[in-house]
Amino acid sequence: MAQFKPLVFSGMQPTHTLHIGNYLGAILNWIRMQQTHDCIYCVVDLHAITQAPSVWGGPTQLRRAIREVTAAYIACGVDPKKSVIFNQSQVPEHAELAWVFNCVARLGWLNRMTQFKEKAGKDRENASIGLYDYPVLMAADILVYRATHVPVGEDQKQHLELARDIAKKFNLDFASDIAANGHGDAYFPEPEPMIQGPATRVMSLRDGTKKMSKSDPSDLSRINLTDDADTIAQKIRRAKTDPEPLPSEAKGLEGRAEAENLVGIFAALADRSPESVLAQYGGGQFSTFKQDLADVAVTKLAPIASEMRRLMDDQSYVDGVLRDGAQRARAIASGVMGDVKDIVGLLRS
Ligand code: TRP
Repeated sequence: MAQFKPLVFSGMQPTHTLHIGNYLGAILNWIRMQQTHDCIYCVVDLHAITQAPSVWGGPTQLRRAIREVTAAYIACGVDPKKSVIFNQSQVPEHAELAWVFNCVARLGWLNRMTQFKEKAGKDRENASIGLYDYPVLMAADILVYRATHVPVGEDQKQHLELARDIAKKFNLDFASDIAANGHGDAYFPEPEPMIQGPATRVMSLRDGTKKMSKSDPSDLSRINLTDDADTIAQKIRRAKTDPEPLPSEAKGLEGRAEAENLVGIFAALADRSPESVLAQYGGGQFSTFKQDLADVAVTKLAPIASEMRRLMDDQSYVDGVLRDGAQRARAIASGVMGDVKDIVGLLRS
């Protein structure tokens, strides 16, 4: 099997107000990866438009969200000098490779995608072709850089499997052409998901059995990255708990989803283990714990919110980061797309 240079790729849709679930579950991990790997972090705007404009809010809101997610990446610590930060639609090779992959992927594979079924709901006939094809574009996002490692949430595992299936089938279908073009026995790597974060699943502050989500109608259910100190503290004070004091050991959290979630958030924000948090607060009042959690959260998150506000007021800087990132991304993607044309038998421009 051919060797591929380790490269990290990940992305988020600009449909969200980002919240601490995105930060603790994903972006913190991205920042860590920067120390050991070359990383490319994308704002996947072409994925955003797979749903109805009413879902992403229309063009004015989309432009704003692309810049806001970019600002969030930077404010959280993704370093635009070190890592590549860009928005997907500025690198046309993503869509171009997706077309080739459309001709590799099988209908049967896409029919199994659970996220499509969830998002399309009952009215499948009325879902866009883009929503159905979403996982193929995602495979192209990753493979147009021949990326090997993809930090994502648990819910994206199936999409990563599809990306591996596409890579495998391309390598197999064009094996002799890949060899003839000097690429050995495989052109695309089989990218691996990396599902690890300090808190891979951050749950709603109102219901510890539901994932924290941008689409929850209650704003009290999540802490947004743009929330100011007072709002953060208030949301933590009002977070749902149960009447029991905190246990001293992790096994005492079983069946207590809200308590477990708050302890997990505390540990992730303070960079401590849940065990050490429980050793300190076990047996004590929830109110003391919540007060300290609010302090930890404000210390960690308020600077991110103010840096995001500063960046949102400096549109030319943010746009400059995206332009520079797109240029660096394109330098890689156009090379890969050229190779793919040679392998498949399309004439290069
Ligand atoms: N589907 C991913 C999500 O919703 C976003 C995404 C699009 C992505 N393309 C990607 C993630 C490529 C990782 C790699 O979270």
